Amino acid sequence: MMKSGRANFGSKLGVILASAGSAVGLGNIWRFPYETGNYGGAAFILIYLGCVLLLGLPIMLAEFIIGRRSRANTAGAYQVLAPGTHWRWVGRMGVLAGFMILSFYSVVAGWTLEYVFEALGNGFAGKTPEEYIQSFQAFSGNPWKPIIWLVLFLLGTHFIIVRGVEKGIEKSSKIMMPMLFVLILVLVGCSVSLPGAKSGIEFLLKPDFSKVDGNVFLGAMGQAFFSLSLGMGCLCTYASYFSKDTNLTRTAFSVGLIDTFIAILAGFIIFPAAFSVGIQPDAGPSLIFITLPNVFQQAFSGAPWLAYIFSVLFYVLLALAALTSTISMHEVVTAYLHEEFKISRKRAAWFVTGGCIFFGVLCSLSLGVTKGFTVFGMGMFDLFDFVTAKIILPLGGMLISIFVGWYLDKKLVWEEITNDGTLKVRLYKVILFILKYIAPIAIGIVFINELKIL
Ligand code: TRP
Repeated sequence: MMKSGRANFGSKLGVILASAGSAVGLGNIWRFPYETGNYGGAAFILIYLGCVLLLGLPIMLAEFIIGRRSRANTAGAYQVLAPGTHWRWVGRMGVLAGFMILSFYSVVAGWTLEYVFEALGNGFAGKTPEEYIQSFQAFSGNPWKPIIWLVLFLLGTHFIIVRGVEKGIEKSSKIMMPMLFVLILVLVGCSVSLPGAKSGIEFLLKPDFSKVDGNVFLGAMGQAFFSLSLGMGCLCTYASYFSKDTNLTRTAFSVGLIDTFIAILAGFIIFPAAFSVGIQPDAGPSLIFITLPNVFQQAFSGAPWLAYIFSVLFYVLLALAALTSTISMHEVVTAYLHEEFKISRKRAAWFVTGGCIFFGVLCSLSLGVTKGFTVFGMGMFDLFDFVTAKIILPLGGMLISIFVGWYLDKKLVWEEITNDGTLKVRLYKVILFILKYIAPIAIGIVFINELKIL
């Protein structure tokens, strides 16, 4: 079943860092805080943690099993493991989701580039919180600027993708992830010591369950899938490059832990700062872009050069974290086109980049020029986000857990989880029980509940 000549990740650390590089990105630092703000704070976070533990980790393991066993792109994987069945549609649906997410994700990734240059030119210095809001609105509503950044970002992703798997992805993740982590810790320290930060900390720690409804569950579940890169075969594609002795369970735990930790820390940067300067926590997608400049300016008001260095460094690392995520999405679609349609990798990559530029531009415009044009009350950006994170990813996750829990031969699952019996995995039975019953039923209940509300 091994396809010789297929690329592999070089080292153990490389495996974890590349997968964590895919998981950690704008989902943690941009989307998690704004969804937490939308859904009211601590109660959302608790439900989110439940989703990560109960659904996220087992489904991540399931994706790893499918990917490493089949050694193929996500749609091809089902053809290898379940030839002649309709399961390949799960893979195809994932490829579609990857393409859609990459389109709107690149818009926000482009914003981070604008902020890198704003920081480099010391453009944040001496402004009031009001002015940060105004300048963000002027920027994101501008028809040209965000589009130029978006195109540049996608081209950057493109060139890393065509250079190949190991060199591109592994090398970049190894340096950037630890740096980002350290900087985030520093910023948490700064943010919680701002005046009035206490109510932000309370917002994160004191749950108010009176506001919890089906919507909050769908939001938390969608965020868990989005942040962990699950439900569309992304980690499944990465796992197809894992080596035979990668410990799948341990890798899933490490990636889940790193990802969740960074999201929570991002919350501890954003909310104390937002409350400190009076920005509403439910400001939506703009939240981190209007809050963070305040953190840099206020926390280092006595040392402007520190504010300068930290803001440049932060936006550079944020853009790079976004890059390791866009690479992983691009890879899913590129590997699919390359292997299934027998076109060269380079050509496949150009199709993906071109298509995402097209839809990305439409998503970007939907936040400004074409704002009035909506479907189901949502512009293209919000629609792509909603359809992928809240429908396709959880649905994909549900089908993946059914595939591994029910369809796959138990012996095969056991071989993959224990590396042919060489590893002792104590949670084996629990994991299988979750994949068989708990995950599909829980996701089903959240969906049914939502249909009633609609
Ligand atoms: N998880 C990434 C983030 O948090 C985004 C991402 C990368 C993703 N690959 C994915 C989301 C696959 C869903 C599916 O920024």
